[in-house]
Amino acid sequence: MNKPATSDGFNPNANRAATAPAFLSVANIHGYYGESYIVQDVSFNVHEGEILALLGRNGAGKTSTLRTIARVGTPELKHGEIWLDHQPLHEMKAHEAAAAGIQLVPEDRRIIAGLTVEENLQLAQIAPPKGWGIDRIYELFPRLGERRKQEGVTLSGGEQQMLAIGRALCRDIKVLLLDEPYEGLAPVIVQEIAKTLNLIRDQGITTILVEQNAIAALKIADRAVILDTGSVVFDGAASEVLENEELRQEYLAI
Ligand SMILES: Nc1ncnc2c1ncn2[C@@H]1O[C@H](COP(=O)(O)OP(=O)(O)O)[C@@H](O)[C@H]1O
Ligand SMILES: [Mg+2]
Repeated sequence: MNKPATSDGFNPNANRAATAPAFLSVANIHGYYGESYIVQDVSFNVHEGEILALLGRNGAGKTSTLRTIARVGTPELKHGEIWLDHQPLHEMKAHEAAAAGIQLVPEDRRIIAGLTVEENLQLAQIAPPKGWGIDRIYELFPRLGERRKQEGVTLSGGEQQMLAIGRALCRDIKVLLLDEPYEGLAPVIVQEIAKTLNLIRDQGITTILVEQNAIAALKIADRAVILDTGSVVFDGAASEVLENEELRQEYLAI
């Protein structure tokens, strides 16, 4: 099947040899919660190994867009296509999208109560295909190794976020979708997690980072997409958003 042309006019079918298609291509997706039309014709590309900041005010549709990509079921995808490395995510259910390499870390982190840190990681590895081994997760997050026997839900907010990311890496992951990972965390912990996201990028993993803390997100992102009332209003370099005060005030209120 041919891949769709993208919003910026890039046609991945033209001149294949010279221009590789986007690694993750979100093309004209429309998402509904029942009758509520929320994701309104959203298109953007994500390149392999980059960090893309997906920004916008509260209620702009960031979480809904991530949930649509992860094929969670709500919002319902009614039109449009999502391609990951030649695989049609738009035809998949959540577990198939996960097996194809999409991992969503939701805002509430979903640490499983009654299980230790290590058991939370082991549980993520039960279903194939497996990703990183647990020792590698502890190398990335030494604090998790130190607390391996502690119940996951008793960790600090920052440590719980590390565990949630660690669990995603335990799966055979291509694209990490992070919904507000910095929420409620002290600036020093935000910096620590940002450093880790850079290390994860160094390992070749692609990340979409949704954040209310737009400045912190833009500082580590390669590119940014800004949503407003369910539509894309900006798609470009992260540095461009950092430098453009008008754009920041209009769509990010910062
Ligand atoms: N389950 C739902 N049912 C109906 N509307 C929803 C639901 N979840 C979110 N919305 C609406 O969708 C819009 C976008 O929400 P969301 O994607 O959570 O935005 P963001 O993550 O950017 O804050 C908001 O107007 C919100 O009220
Ligand atoms: Mg949200």
